[in-house]
This record gives sequence, structure tokens and C-alpha cells, in this order.
Amino acid sequence: MTTSPIRVGIHDLAFATAHNVLDLRELADHFEIDVDKFYIGIGQTRMSVAAEDEDIVTMGAAAAQQILDRHGSAGIRTVLFATESGVDQSKSAGVFAHGLLRLSAHCRVVELKQACYSATAGLQFALGLVARDASERVLVIASDIARYALDSSGEATQGAAAVAFLVTADPQLLEIEAPTGLFTDDIHDFWRPNYRSTAVVEGKYSLAAYLQSLAGAWDEYRTRGGAAFDEIHRFCYHQPFTKMAVKAHKRLAAIVESPLDADQRRAQIEDSMIYNREVGNSYTASIYLGLLSLLENSEEDLSGKRIGFFSYGSGSVSEFFAGVVQPGYRQQLRVERDRQVLADRSPIDYETYRALHEHIEAVRGGDFETQAQTAAPFRFLGVRDDIRRYEVRQSQG
Ligand code: HMG
Repeated sequence: MTTSPIRVGIHDLAFATAHNVLDLRELADHFEIDVDKFYIGIGQTRMSVAAEDEDIVTMGAAAAQQILDRHGSAGIRTVLFATESGVDQSKSAGVFAHGLLRLSAHCRVVELKQACYSATAGLQFALGLVARDASERVLVIASDIARYALDSSGEATQGAAAVAFLVTADPQLLEIEAPTGLFTDDIHDFWRPNYRSTAVVEGKYSLAAYLQSLAGAWDEYRTRGGAAFDEIHRFCYHQPFTKMAVKAHKRLAAIVESPLDADQRRAQIEDSMIYNREVGNSYTASIYLGLLSLLENSEEDLSGKRIGFFSYGSGSVSEFFAGVVQPGYRQQLRVERDRQVLADRSPIDYETYRALHEHIEAVRGGDFETQAQTAAPFRFLGVRDDIRRYEVRQSQG
């Protein structure tokens, strides 16, 4: 077998999040507990909360629009939409997004699902398509709204965001290296049956399962020629809450018997956690939001540096892989815009958050119209005749 000489990877990466933000102090006050359980204990400060007229399609399209505005849509013949908060059992969320983005009809569009892992499946599938034909550009969208039951221990680990990335030959952001390590295990740590709008979770077990998968994926990554721990400059983990990345990195350092102390380990992951601490769990988008956070918040020039990724999706499937940051990567970033988006979210109090959470259940299964709340470029209008309706608010070039 010959290996492809084509360099492939992520050419551009953009994100969008929900209109509202809830400070976890509101939740702590409701539970009558010390807010440091959230701020320090799980490492989360705020979480994005979707408005009535937002969903995974509007957020995903808003992330992807930025990529199309910059690079155009020529050569995009595949759209992979990764999510575990699907809006239809049959039609891909990607087809709704394809329509809103006015992409060419000559395009294959599918939705991918495996909890928080499927955006990484999308990345790997996209790399394969580009390696076969370097003229192809694949648009991957990962978009999720994390929802747990009200008054459950998972509630502080909700969130909402989307990322979109363009996978191409000769990428300007991150070249993805070939070795990967995989680990799949048929377990029930977190799942969502079709009849539920919120996840079922075995919280403590899910943490142990995540760490066990990390060991398994890392082991295969190394066996298949992956870089050694000390050849990796920064690490980017799936972040259901940022403390999970801290726990994971400590575990990996122990596995490889690294001499690094806690502060040195922290420096290897700190910048990747800044956005996630503010957004909450964005499921499939989370690890790539972590990558964006790392690239946009690192004062050090990361050109030529290797980043290690651990992608985990409950149930469970996980993968360890690595990429090398490309020279000139900073020109591809949108640092001011992204910080402004986080700062501009609309703060809500506990009662408003609770009403939004309950609204999803109240309208399930029937026709309804949403109130106009979001200022985003795409709006979810509601359901009429069992069809989801959307509005494009921003004129597109
Ligand atoms: P809990 O049981 O309420 O919290 O829920 P806890 O009692 O374990 O406390 C959490 C931490 O806060 C602990 O720190 C406490 O010591 C600390 P740790 O010992 O773990 O380092 N703490 C404090 N710290 C400072 N000041 C205080 C204070 N009080 C306590 N005053 C749990 C926590 C994460 C289990 C819950 O939120 C949950 O079930 N979340 C959802 C599940 C989850 O996120 N699992 C992660 C792994 S699975 C995964 O990543 C996949 C996922 O993204 C889904 C997918 O793939 O689709 C979830």
C-alpha cells in the first residue's frame, strides 16, 4: 500500500454560539450551593443557552457562513454535519444548512452521529476524500445543544455551540498527521433515547469511561507510529467541562510517566479551555472549539508545533490523533470577532433559563411559531405542517 503524498488538514475553522448566556452562579443560587463547585470544581463559569428561535441548524449555518464568506463555495462537493441533537429522524440537519447556505446542488450531504465523537469521524472521512482528489474541499459542521434534566447534577454541564471547518489539501491552519488510535466500547455512560429531549447519564461512570478510553486510544496511537508524549507541544481534549481536560491530561501524563508537574501540565492545555469554560459542553463541537481557543489565545507562535487531540463520544467511541500548526495560521483566525461574540451574548436569569428549557418540551410534537429573540444570521421560525421553517436574515454574497 502506498501512502498519499498530499498534505491534508484543516484550512479554516469558525464558530458560532447561542444568543443567551447563563452565569453558573444563577444555578448555584437555585441549588443553594457554593458556586465554586462549578467555577473551580468542574471548571465552568457560564454556559450558552439557545433562544427559542435557534437550533443546531441555525448555529451550524452561522459558523459555516464565515468560512464561505472568506473562501467561497467552489469545490465543496461534500457537507458532513456532525450532531447528537438531530432535528429530524430522517433528513440530515446538513441538508437544512445546505439550503440556508445556498450551496451547489452537486453536493453530498449527510449527518453523522456518535455522541461527541462524530465531528472527528467527519474530519477523518473528509481527509480521505481530499487525499483521493486534492481539488475537493469538504465542509464539516459540528453543532450541538447539550441538555440535561432540570435539577439534575448534569445541569451545570450544558452548553451550545457550533463549529465549521474546511478540510483541504495544503491547509493553512493545521495539517493532520496520519497515525490515529481508536477505542470503541459498547457501554451506557451517557445516551439519549429517541423519546427524550434530555440525556440520561451515569455521571461518575462517564468520567471513568472517558479516562479508560483515553488510555486505550493512546495505546493504539503509539503502536501505529504516533508521536511520543514529549513530541507533542499542546493537547486538546473533548471538554464536557474543562476540569475533565485537566483530569485527562493528568492521566495521560501518568500513563507515560511524564516528569512534568501540575503547573507544566496545565500550561499544555490552559489556552484550549478558555472558550469552553464560557460556552459549556457543545458536544461534537467542543474539541474543535478547544482548538480554536488554543490558537486564538496562545501568545506563543504555535507555527510548526504539534497538537495532540483526544476526541471522546459516550457510548463510546474515541480517537487520539495529532496535527501540526501551519506557518501563517494567525491570518486565518478571527480573534476579535470571536471574543466579541462571547461578550455580546445576552445574560439571562435562572427563571428565563428555566422557561427556555421547559419550552422545548412544551412544543414537542406539534406545530408552533417561535418568538424572534436571536440576532443571528439565520432564524428557526418554528414548525408548520410538520416541516421545520427557517429564515435567512443576512444577505449573502
Ligand atoms: P456532581 O456529582 O454533582 O459533582 O456532578 P461532584 O460532587 O463530583 O463535584 C464535582 C467537582 O467539584 C469535584 O471535583 C468536587 O470535589 C468539586 P473532583 O473531585 O472531581 O476533582 N467541588 C468543589 N470544588 C471547589 N469548591 C467547592 C466544591 N464542591 C465540590 N465548594 C458530574 C459532576 C460531572 C458527574 C455531573 O455534572 C455530570 O453528570 N455531568 C454530565 C456527564 C459528563 O459531563 N461526563 C463527562 C465524561 S463523558 C463525556 O465527556 C461525554 C459527554 O460529553 C457526552 C457525549 O459524548 O455526547 C458528556
